[in-house]
Amino acid sequence: MSAFSAEWLDLREPADVAARAPELIERLVQWSDGCEHIAVVDLGAGTGSCLRALAPDIVSSQTWRLIDRSGTLLQEANTRLSAWGHDRGLSTQEMHNCWRAMGKGVDYRVVFDARDLGAGFNNIAPPVDLVTVSALLDLVSEVWCRDLARWCSVVGATLYTCLNYDGKFHFTPSHPDDHDVCDAINQHQRRDKGMGPALGSDAIRVLLRELAIVGYQSVTAPSPWLLGPDNGTLQGTLVRGWSNLAGGEGEECSERVSRWRSFRLAAIEACQSYLNVGHVDLWAWPER
Ligand SMILES: C[S@@+](CC[C@H](N)C(=O)[O-])C[C@H]1O[C@@H](n2cnc3c(N)ncnc32)[C@H](O)[C@@H]1O
Repeated sequence: MSAFSAEWLDLREPADVAARAPELIERLVQWSDGCEHIAVVDLGAGTGSCLRALAPDIVSSQTWRLIDRSGTLLQEANTRLSAWGHDRGLSTQEMHNCWRAMGKGVDYRVVFDARDLGAGFNNIAPPVDLVTVSALLDLVSEVWCRDLARWCSVVGATLYTCLNYDGKFHFTPSHPDDHDVCDAINQHQRRDKGMGPALGSDAIRVLLRELAIVGYQSVTAPSPWLLGPDNGTLQGTLVRGWSNLAGGEGEECSERVSRWRSFRLAAIEACQSYLNVGHVDLWAWPER
């Protein structure tokens, strides 16, 4: 499964829904209560899971611009949103690069915008009331965080960013090589993923600093994935992906990682594996 396949995003979506910090979603709900309509830009939107998670709880008239580098994922978003809308009893319309759902006082309009966010934000059309960023920040650079904070401040948008990996995972039962695998993953996270040298788990710290510089207030809250035997497929996919990344050079290293992987997959198979993956969510707003 590739890093950003629709299959991977489908697999993680229920865990993401369970993990997003409820206290920050509550802030979002309270903020949107004061609006008649909101214009949202979702950066690195994938198949639209952030919209599906938030839209039902906030003001019912919404326009979303889903931005992703992958036109394929945005097409998948279109398909998934239609199924999601039908499940909610909404009548949906799919148009070229657009989608709309209406019913019971609800009006959701979506624009699919395939573009590389490595090129910045400056030509994203206003108005932008809310910027959402879900499971993306570990890929971005210090300059990208600075530009994001500046852009939010120029357009006057509130910012919600969630599921930002904090650099820690914890398995039960533990294994002596857990720390080394985690270190290898965190080093890999620092490689350039197309938006400058990646910050990995440092992204939230940097973004908080940049938001403060442009006069934003921020709050954060933990949003860990708490995975048990019911999430065996997700755990197994993570273990396989991490062991591929941590395999490293040299026979001794790859044998150790291979033993770690076998231990982990056996525990998952036996329904005895529990995994906590640390994430942080952030809500930031301009000081008035
Ligand atoms: C981990 S996925 C998260 C997707 C979605 N936000 C979610 O929470 O399910 C990261 C997304 O960022 C997108 N992405 C990565 N680099 C990008 C770039 N330079 N420009 C635009 N999108 C990018 C990927 O295509 C992928 O859909």
